[in-house]
Amino acid sequence: MTLTPESRQLLPVATKPSHARGKRVAATCYWKCADACSHPVPNKSANEYFRDIASKAMSRRVLLGGAAVAASAVVVGATVLDQDGAAQATTLGEHGGRWPGHGGPGGQVKGLSFGPIQTQDAAVDAFTVPEGYEWSAIVRWGDPILPGGRSFDAANQSPEQQKLQFGYNVDYLDILPSDPRDQKNMVETRRGTRGLLVTNHEYTNREIMFPAEMDAAKGRAIERAAHGMSVVEVARRREGQPWSYLRVAPRNRRIHMETEFVVDGPVAGNDLLKTVEDPTGTRVRGTLNNCAGGTTPWGTVLSGEENWNGYFKVAAGNPRSQRYGIGTAATRYGWELDDPRFDATTPGYENEPHRFGWVVELDPYDPQAAPVKHTAMGRFKHEGANIIVAPDGRVVAYMGDDEAFDYVYKFVSRNKMKPGDDRRSRAFNKTLLSEGDLYVARFAGDSPAAEIDGRATVPSDGAFDGTGQWLPLVVDGVSHVPGMSVAEVLTFTRLAGDAVGATKMDRPEDVEPSPFTGNVYVACTNNSSRGNTGAKEAATEMNPRNQNRDGHIVEIVEGDEQTGTEFTWNLLLVAGDPSVNGSTYFSGYPKDKVSPISCPDNVAFDLKGNLWISTDGQPSSIAKCDGLFRVTLTGAERGKVEQFLATPRSSEACGPLVDLRDQMVYVNVQHPGDDGSFAAQTSFFPDYVAEGATPAAGDWRGPRPSTIQVYKKRR
Ligand code: FEO
Ligand code: CA
Ligand code: CA
Repeated sequence: MTLTPESRQLLPVATKPSHARGKRVAATCYWKCADACSHPVPNKSANEYFRDIASKAMSRRVLLGGAAVAASAVVVGATVLDQDGAAQATTLGEHGGRWPGHGGPGGQVKGLSFGPIQTQDAAVDAFTVPEGYEWSAIVRWGDPILPGGRSFDAANQSPEQQKLQFGYNVDYLDILPSDPRDQKNMVETRRGTRGLLVTNHEYTNREIMFPAEMDAAKGRAIERAAHGMSVVEVARRREGQPWSYLRVAPRNRRIHMETEFVVDGPVAGNDLLKTVEDPTGTRVRGTLNNCAGGTTPWGTVLSGEENWNGYFKVAAGNPRSQRYGIGTAATRYGWELDDPRFDATTPGYENEPHRFGWVVELDPYDPQAAPVKHTAMGRFKHEGANIIVAPDGRVVAYMGDDEAFDYVYKFVSRNKMKPGDDRRSRAFNKTLLSEGDLYVARFAGDSPAAEIDGRATVPSDGAFDGTGQWLPLVVDGVSHVPGMSVAEVLTFTRLAGDAVGATKMDRPEDVEPSPFTGNVYVACTNNSSRGNTGAKEAATEMNPRNQNRDGHIVEIVEGDEQTGTEFTWNLLLVAGDPSVNGSTYFSGYPKDKVSPISCPDNVAFDLKGNLWISTDGQPSSIAKCDGLFRVTLTGAERGKVEQFLATPRSSEACGPLVDLRDQMVYVNVQHPGDDGSFAAQTSFFPDYVAEGATPAAGDWRGPRPSTIQVYKKRR
């Protein structure tokens, strides 16, 4: 199918003055994260770089016991591969599976076969897939999903209609099977012919969503209705064929700023969460800036409340608010004009910002169930949360705090997952994230500081690597942070991380364990402030590039028990375009044989054990459209990066899902055409008009964030 935008006439790019660099446009930074990168870094702590302990005092073998052999096989893989590529070929399979009943990757399933696409220039408004593949939208912003919902009419949008329609900027996605008992894990699920599509809706951009003449208060109400999450039932004739969404279906649901959430865990009912509207501190209206997420083995979806700070105004001079970057001026969204809770200087609403910044859990199988905010998992700018079941049956969640110089976290449930798929087991498993231990990561490099030159030059021991510790914040219901109660640690978790000396990372976004090895992959998106004059910290072995605009991937190798407090780590990639950027690293794989990749954001795994990375914000050294990339993790091709798709102008690819059983790939396309205006749009995604055709008069001509499916061309 040859699809092109109706018009390639180049419309003016954003005129909004901005710090935005490279491909990411001003409007995206403005609305999505309140220009976080151009504000002073909220982390003012003086944590020291914990460099030397590993090489001087700890032996990996002592730390990890039986896990050491397997761990070091991965950690030194790059070195060995340089000399003898085939020698480390089967590390992955030797670990076996971490999911109950799973024997390891591979089996009968075919890997996805494709030729990597060429990078697409940033101004290209097209969705690009490899030769032999085609794509279509499953559901788009504004598509009606609830009774009473009308077909999308951008010029006449209303808050009431938006609550009945698919929301805006889609991020996390999964398609769960219609029966929760078929939900095995993130790569093994049999989706069948009826499914539940679950997505997040992160933020809105009023400049392209509706006409400038729209009544301002009405526009803000539309925006509140377009935030949140959606559950949409989907159907298809046979497995492997594209899905259609069902306009009316029993489990279709919209979560928005008026949806009631229940708070659970140690902070529920605490004074820190009480407001005049909710004197119990247990009920919250809405969820904000939901970014990435994760699907649990019991068939619920976790969603991270990320840049929620940008929606609140607080009183000046409060260090706890400052650590989260909450402003004291009028907000950009201006919702405080409609609802006093967004102005936390309003008497009685001082605690309202404490009620956001959590991981939320949604049960898509029960449309009546209130979603839950889990306070046991801490409060920060949650990118998402990804779960693995430890061998002893407890569940372990990994989480990143997406801010320059912030931290990586691990949560271990107190109770063990019940393996049954009956109703009672499922109900029990839905309580697992309510109680457990919270840790923050401290990394140590094993190479001398003088060898970390800020340009990602590989140290003389052949790898960016070392050891690390999960530092306890709350364990067995007891605070391990001097001077902070359990409720304070969980509500002001960034400050707790500062106090115990966590390691400052380059914007850790998705943090996801491989279901096959238990190794954990940390997508550090970028940090252009590292090493700058006046910055808190220059390059470290785990963040080895100053002015890190391209990001990198950390691979954490946990002990076999997965729940322990010691780990080893190494870098899988230091991203970038090797042809223009000397400071890249691909685990020793030849740099002239990789697809250029920058700003890794979301990660996922396929059934062969490959890592898939979607990107957000290619820098000026690349200025290409974002995309989805496959990365080989083991064997001679460890570090090989292949671009599978590219998303349209000004957009990013989110929530990748690669289903090898069906040979289908899904992504959410977020903020296409963010650099336009309602009157002069710059993207027409996804409703491109076939070449030579004329759009019907009155057709909406502008971008619609959408869930996209990619599949092999049918003959
Ligand atoms: Fe919403 Fe961290 O990206
Ligand atoms: Ca090293
Ligand atoms: Ca993200």
